[in-house]
Amino acid sequence: MIDFKKIIAEKIATKLDLDLEEIKQYIEIPPNTDLGDYAFPCFRLAKTLKKSPQMIAEELKEEIQLDENVIKVDIVGGYLNFFINKLKLTKEVLEEINKKEENYGSNKSGENKTILVEYSSPNIAKPFHIGHLRNTVIGSSLYKIYKFLGYNVVGINHLGDYGTQFGKMIEGYKRWEKEYNIEENPIDELTNIYVRINNLCKEDENVLELCRENFKKLEDGDEYCVEVWNKLKDLSLKEFQKTYDLLGVKFDSLKGEAFYSDKIDEIVEKLDKKGILKDSEGAKIVDLEDKGLGVCIIKKSNGSTIYATRDLAAILYRARTYNFDKCLYVVAYEQNLHFKQVFEIAKFLDLPQKCLDGLEHVSYGMVRLVTGKMSTREGTVIKVNELLDEAIERAKKIIEEKNPEMENKEEEAKKIGLGAVIFNNVSNTIIKDQVFEWDTVLNFNGETGPYIQYIFVRTKSVLEKINNIPDINNINFELLQDKESQKVIATLYNFENVLMQVVQKNEPSLLARYLITLSQNYSNFYNENKIIDDDDKDIQNARVALTKAVNIVLKQGAKLLGIEMPNKM
Ligand code: ARG
Repeated sequence: MIDFKKIIAEKIATKLDLDLEEIKQYIEIPPNTDLGDYAFPCFRLAKTLKKSPQMIAEELKEEIQLDENVIKVDIVGGYLNFFINKLKLTKEVLEEINKKEENYGSNKSGENKTILVEYSSPNIAKPFHIGHLRNTVIGSSLYKIYKFLGYNVVGINHLGDYGTQFGKMIEGYKRWEKEYNIEENPIDELTNIYVRINNLCKEDENVLELCRENFKKLEDGDEYCVEVWNKLKDLSLKEFQKTYDLLGVKFDSLKGEAFYSDKIDEIVEKLDKKGILKDSEGAKIVDLEDKGLGVCIIKKSNGSTIYATRDLAAILYRARTYNFDKCLYVVAYEQNLHFKQVFEIAKFLDLPQKCLDGLEHVSYGMVRLVTGKMSTREGTVIKVNELLDEAIERAKKIIEEKNPEMENKEEEAKKIGLGAVIFNNVSNTIIKDQVFEWDTVLNFNGETGPYIQYIFVRTKSVLEKINNIPDINNINFELLQDKESQKVIATLYNFENVLMQVVQKNEPSLLARYLITLSQNYSNFYNENKIIDDDDKDIQNARVALTKAVNIVLKQGAKLLGIEMPNKM
């Protein structure tokens, strides 16, 4: 599609003999479109050109040729403001959406690049709580967006299936298996066992020692320990899968920490060869104090491996298997230090430079309840399955009140309830903590998932009222030059650009905000304009064409976040 920004950048760059990409980066979209569609901040060049921004603006304005794309140039302050040909824009956007449909906005910018996205990664035998939900939702949407932009993407679930806590689980299981109803209610019962054995460990050092030995035995392949561990893993995975199915979340690779257990020696050897391993009370460590990153244990004194070492082995394995351009870790900011340490030590693993440069921790904030932080001990953890069920239940109740005659209530309630929860998890800048509050999340009029769904349903019912959707070749685009229509057009035009920014910043909230803007702009258009108009078919056709474009982009945009659209609301 026509790239107005590039056209403008070319006009500026050739006049000044400057780098096109650099100029393109400087071009902004003015907050008030009355002032122009694009703005070039001339102060950016003041230093290079040794002139005042005002002078640069004036000289540039003299030189810039107007044409069928750029129809006017204005100076405001130190800015050069450009007005583009709106009629051409309207035609381009609507024709492109009509042609590409759900592929509108996709491109091949990621061709030949491999991105690993690691997300979800819950710990087995523990509840899947709303913190894990957030990273599952964020990671899954990054996965989809990278794919849409042509990248080769691998979704990885790095299950927490190893570590001393499994030594404890095995000990508890061995002692009390018969007292618990594990088959029926695995996660809850395993959690109960875990709490009980933990308490016992606190009272009795000897039990704690047995647990440590269990983990060592597990690593060494002891038959009983491996058997129990496999059982815990299978039961947990079955539970997690229910959540993934409900959310439509998929992975290409499900390799837990345990997978890397036999790949640790190579890491230890490599680090040793580089001379960075130190002995410390029998353990092997890397000292990162001079980098301000403390000390990282690589191997414990009893020979057991730890979380960080398994991550190092995973990096080496992934570099060899995928030769990745980027490896993203969608993990809470509580693990910032961990990833800084691991990425620092990874410099000693002889990885290809591009893999090393491609390691990135996509850090996200915690989910809090209005009542404060969740705590397992105080029983304030919200389990994801319960939360999702409740969201669906609440959506059903709202439907019963508003539209009791609705068809397929169950299905629609599911889409609305899940849509609300998913949107809530991606709507804020991901590093920010998120507060969870039912009324806000399910509000049909706030900046929520159900609001976007509601506007989508509106577009759908407009399209259903028309028997023949007009042919795009018969649309008079002159009839869409009013302010409200133009706001919608400009937003539709921006879709691909927003997706590019999402992957540049690993920030799916930009797409969430975009969908809110598109919905609001369409809502204003809808309120200001009569769409179905028997007296003026040309106007009707033009507005229906716009409605259809919004319908397509809302649906695809939501899908990239993991949200499905209902048919009715
Ligand atoms: N299982 C860990 C947790 O729940 C998250 C794993 C993150 N990924 C990693 N490669 N360390 O806290």
